[in-house]
Formats: sequence, C-alpha cells, structure tokens
Amino acid sequence: MKGIILHGGHGTRLRPLTHTGPKQLLPIANKPMSQYALEDLREAGITEIGIIIGDVYPEKVQEFYGDGSKFGVKITYIFQDKPKGISHAIRLCKEFIGTDRFIVYLGDNILRKGLVDYTKKFQSSKSDAMILLCEVDEPSRFGIAELDKTNSGKIKKIMEKPKEPQSNLAVIGVYFLTPKIFDIIDKLKPSWRGELEITEALQLLMENGNTIEYDTVTGWWKDTGTPEDILHANQLILDTIGTQNQFVLSEGSQVKGNIVLGKNSTISRDSFITGPAIIGDNCNVGPAVRIGPHVSIGNNCSLKYCDVENSILMDDCSIDTKIQISDSIIAHGSQITNNHQAKKHQFLLGERSQVKL
Ligand code: DAU
Repeated sequence: MKGIILHGGHGTRLRPLTHTGPKQLLPIANKPMSQYALEDLREAGITEIGIIIGDVYPEKVQEFYGDGSKFGVKITYIFQDKPKGISHAIRLCKEFIGTDRFIVYLGDNILRKGLVDYTKKFQSSKSDAMILLCEVDEPSRFGIAELDKTNSGKIKKIMEKPKEPQSNLAVIGVYFLTPKIFDIIDKLKPSWRGELEITEALQLLMENGNTIEYDTVTGWWKDTGTPEDILHANQLILDTIGTQNQFVLSEGSQVKGNIVLGKNSTISRDSFITGPAIIGDNCNVGPAVRIGPHVSIGNNCSLKYCDVENSILMDDCSIDTKIQISDSIIAHGSQITNNHQAKKHQFLLGERSQVKL
C-alpha cells in the first residue's frame, strides 16, 4: 500500500499564522501537525508516501521532509497549483499510486490511536473503500455519513457539510481507497464551494455499485482548522507526552506534572513549571516565570517574568515582561515586551511579530 498526505490548501481560518507557511507545518507539542500523519502511515507499514504540496510556501514542506529518509520513508512530492478540492488532489496522484491500494491522510487531521488496526482491516478486505467515522457535536462542519438503519453495517449516504445533518457521524480525513476512485473523480463537477469534494467521490463510488466499509474512531480525532482546534490538539497531545525524571533547577524553582525539557535548556531562579508542558532545545526560562499547564515552547526561546498557560510559542520567541498570556499561538521569532502593569492577554501572532505593551 501507498500513502498520500495532503499538504496544500490556504488555511485561511488560521491567518496570520498561514501567511508565512502551510498550516500543516504549524507545531503541535513541538512537532509539525503533518508529521503525526506521516508517522501514523509509517507505523502502519507504509513507507512510500506522496505529499501534495500547494501554492503556500511548498518549499518549506520539501525543506522539512526532504526525501523522507530522516523519517524512515520515501517521499514523492506532487504539486497542486490551486486548492481545487481533496478529490482534485487525489486525482493528481494517479500515476504515483499505479495499481496499489492506498491511504489518503489530510495533513491537518490528528488521530490519537494511529492507523495500524484499520490498515490491517482494509488490507484483508475486498471493499473498494473504507472510511472512518467519529461522533461530533457540530456535524455541519464536516463531511457526514448517514447509516442505513435497516441494514446495519451499511452506509446510506455521504454528504459534505450538510446544513441539516441527518447524523452526527463525521467522515474523518483519513480515507482508504483503491485506484477505482480515479475514474469516479473524473466524473465529478465542482461543488458550490468550487471544489472536487471527496465526499461526492465516495457517494458516487457507492452509487456505481461499489462497497464502502466504515469503522468508528476510538480515542480522539482532531481536525485542526481553527486556532481553538490547534490549542485543543496541543492539550490532547501534551496529555500523552510522559515526563523526564531529572531536572537541574535553580534556587526557588519547581516543576510539577509531566514535563519534557530539550537539550541545553535551563529553568532559572524562582520559576514554576506545571505540566503537561514541553520546552524545546536551547531555551532560557526564568527568572520568575510560570509556565503551564498545556504549554508548548519551541527551540531557542527566552522567557522572563511571564506567566504562560494553554499556549503555543514557536521557535526563537522572546518574552521579557511581567505579563499573563493565555490561550495564545505565537509564531516564530516574535517578541513581547511591556512597560506597564501585567494584565491577562491573548495573542494570535504571525511570524516575527513585535508587541510592545
Ligand atoms: O477533517 C475532516 C474533513 O476534511 C471532512 O469531514 C470533510 O468531508 C473534508 O471535505 C475536509 O473538510 P475541510 O473543510 O476541513 O477541508 P479543508 O479544505 O480544510 O482541507 C483539508 C486538508 O486538505 C487541509 O490540510 C488542506 C488540504 N487540501 C485541501 C484542498 C481543498 C489540499 O491539499 N488541497 C486542496 O485542494
């Protein structure tokens, strides 16, 4: 089997973070979100992976993943000029896929329990496709599957973001497919949002007499479309990170809960870290810093006097002020300084932002 990771699209709901790179490279617990997809595919035994890159800094994706050897896989890049839909992106992979069965993984989806069991199930089945379903609170945000009540185990209908959903079962962004899907995609017309929809391809596949199996997601699944989704995914991943046993702490400093601290990073005077939290390499934390819970800090950051909770700071950021930061995403190279009294602040800062309060 082969794998495809979708790394295109414009990520408009995540601006300004996506003005300087594709959303799938935004870090969740210090790892680009698409790396979780790549690792799930690799764990399921899939090492030939096609990555669809789009028109938002595609070179950053190539620079990060290279030929895949660092990650134990072989990567082929396939260019999509504009985000014309998930089905459009899949159709571009026809030559790469050849006659193999394959898995398409949307690069902004994160699945807690990985793909190993589902992949085995699909490999040993005769179905023409398999989808994964997950109960959601807001079904009109997703592709939805309606099950046949008279024939358990069968899907009745698959629809893209229906206004009045007849079910709360979202079709998550991991699709198990065969090359039959390519001819089906050739018959699709763009939807109301101008895209070739994956849900319409699946519906047509069924209407043409093919079988689609489904399985349900156990554990959590997250589509990271909005800043709130990203912070929630960060919490979910941090809740599973484990901890290091030993820290060298300066006077008056304490750590509590699960913490991962990178190489050459220090926690200095009167600082207090509450896990779960991850701090990258070469960071200086302190003096008088409070971090956590649910904070991810990238490499080469310097934090002084601040209080940060439920937030993501990417590489090379510095905060040098008595300030409370909460529910924030702060991109690479940003700096926050302050001459006034502390108040609680929430930020969504693009790369190299400078905030003087
Ligand atoms: O997350 C699950 C949902 O993903 C499904 O329930 C929906 O049926 C499916 O259409 C999709 O909905 P979204 O509205 O969330 O899709 P989005 O436009 O965000 O694109 C999903 C990923 O695919 C994202 O990482 C960007 C990438 N993409 C998207 C398009 C439209 C591409 O690489 N190329 C594209 O042309």
